[in-house]
Parts: sequence; C-alpha cells; structure tokens
Amino acid sequence: MNLTRFPRVDLAHLPTPIEPMANLSAHVGGGRLYVKRDDCTGLAFGGNKVRQLEFYLGAAMAQGADTVLITGAVQSNFVRLTAAAARKLGMDCHIQLEERVAKADAAYRNSGNVLLDRLLGATLHSYPDGEDEAGADRQLRDIADGLRAAGRTPYVIPLAPGHPPLGALGYVDAAGEIVAQCADIGLDLDEIVVASGSGHTHAGLLFGLRALNADIRVTGVCVRRSAALQRPRIASRCDEIAALLDRESPVRDSDIHLTDAMLAPGYGRLNQASLDATSLAARTEALMLDPVYTAKTMAAFLQRARQAEPEQALMVLHTGGTPAVFAYERELSSKLSKAA
Ligand SMILES: Cc1ncc(COP(=O)(O)O)c(C=O)c1O
Repeated sequence: MNLTRFPRVDLAHLPTPIEPMANLSAHVGGGRLYVKRDDCTGLAFGGNKVRQLEFYLGAAMAQGADTVLITGAVQSNFVRLTAAAARKLGMDCHIQLEERVAKADAAYRNSGNVLLDRLLGATLHSYPDGEDEAGADRQLRDIADGLRAAGRTPYVIPLAPGHPPLGALGYVDAAGEIVAQCADIGLDLDEIVVASGSGHTHAGLLFGLRALNADIRVTGVCVRRSAALQRPRIASRCDEIAALLDRESPVRDSDIHLTDAMLAPGYGRLNQASLDATSLAARTEALMLDPVYTAKTMAAFLQRARQAEPEQALMVLHTGGTPAVFAYERELSSKLSKAA
C-alpha cells in the first residue's frame, strides 16, 4: 500500500527475518512453526514500536518539534524506544511512567527499560494513579503545555483511541513485507499470532493483510484487557486506519480474532504458562521473550500450535521487549530454581 504521503523517518532495520522454528515445531508436534523477528528492528534493543515510531517521529519532524512526549508503564518498551528515536533525531524526550503494575522490587523500578531510559537521558515524570488512559494523557498534555510556555515545541504521541493511528501504519507496511517474504520463500501461512495491547500492531497488520487480499488469519493475544474490551478497540482502530488512508476498511468483524486465555493475573504479571513458554523458547530456539507481551503471546501460540494440523504453517510475531527480562529477574530466577 502506498504510504508515501505520510512523513516518515528511517529508524528500523528492515526487512526483519522470518525464521523457521524447527526445534520448537518438533517439540510441539503440531503445525510448522515460524517466527517473524521484529525483536531485531535494530534501534536500542529493537521491537515492534520502532516501525510505529517511523511515522510518529516523521510527523514530529514535519511539525518542527524539538521535544517528544510519551506515556507508558514503568517498564514500557515504547517509552524506551521513543527516547532512543528522539536522541537519534536530535530531539529531547519527556517520558511519563504510569504505576500500572503493583510491583515495587528494585529491579523493576531501576533495571531493564528504566535503566535504558536513564542512559538515553530522557526526562522522567511519574503518573502514580495506575491504569487510567485518559488521566495519563491529560497529565502528559499538561507537561506539554508547560514546555510550550517555556518556548519549546513538543510533540505528544497519543496512545488512547480517538487519535489518528499513525503507529499502525508501521504494521500496514509490515503486512506487505510479510506477504513479499512469504512469496519469496514459498511459505503459505495459515495464521499469525500477535500481542494485542494498544492494538496498533494487531490492527495495522490485519488491515494491511486484508488490503492486499491476503486471508491469513490473525489472532491477537490480549495482554492488557479482556477480549470483550479489546474487540471493539481493534474494530475502531481498523476504522481509524481506513479514515487516515481515506479508503474503505477491508476488515470485517469476522476477521477479528482474540484470545485472553493468557491475560491472568493481569497486565505485566506472569502466569505459569508464560513462564513455561519463556524457557521453552529459549531452550529450543534461543529466543528471548519478555514477560509482559511476548511470553504471553508465545504461550497462546503454543496452545494454538498443539491443535494445528501438521501441514499448517503458523507464525508468531516476536515484538521485542527483551530489556524487561532484567526487570523481572526475581520471577524468572524463581522459575529457574524450581525447574532445576
Ligand atoms: C514488546 C511489545 N510487544 C507488543 C506490544 C503491543 O503492541 P501494541 O501496543 O501495538 O498493541 C508492545 C506494546 O508496548 C510491546 O512493547
């Protein structure tokens, strides 16, 4: 799809590889399993958000911004990558860390993404009220107003629904990349499994595939809210993408597949299936998963793979998040000592 009318900056190492997971496929005994390595997008430990930031920071540059603002969880990968992208483009970055996860150990508060935010020299703000998208956005806008009053030109990256989903364009584009790669290697994919958080990745990918008439099933794995709440969010994201692209949405309601089987006990909190998926992926494929997004996605993927027919080809999108491994050292180590 032609996205050239949207300002874009070059941040990601593309295309990312598609790799067969022969060891994991043999272990699971279901379909043929593949991974799309969007953990390898290059910038500051990589991840899915690098593709999204190409469009947000493109807009920021086009508007002459000198400072980027973003809000996210304490261990947010998006926040870390926004700070990295801003630095690369010579801008300042203010980040607001929301207390979404009741977890106070030193590693969570200081290591992983937080350490990287500090290394990147971002200005940190705290949003203590926990899960409250509208409140967090409001406080971020207040910080932006303060910066404007001080003569700066801030650009706010909005995450709540109701804003043009520029980030999703990164995944509309990725859909074309995947279709071209599959054609090159003769891979006829049946399904892609992807984390569904803000929904930009899930909706962008689904929109992009259907716009190319590719009928690969896309299953979103809920990591932040239930499937009942995520479904209308993905539907409206798709409508917002259509409005942004000034075209009809090719996505039907029946294209939206979600599972919240791995959500419990909640955002940023591990369960046994995702801990097991983390060690299995490391020990079979040397893949490093993050506890918040990709471990839960892999756990759902494995559940799906076990039910697949041997001839089916399934792909998981590795969306990165690996620095968070170090923030969850306590939980991961305790799992390892139990397994030993
Ligand atoms: C590693 C990782 N995977 C997946 C997601 C979810 O992507 P989206 O917010 O586009 O749904 C995020 C979001 O922050 C993430 O950091």
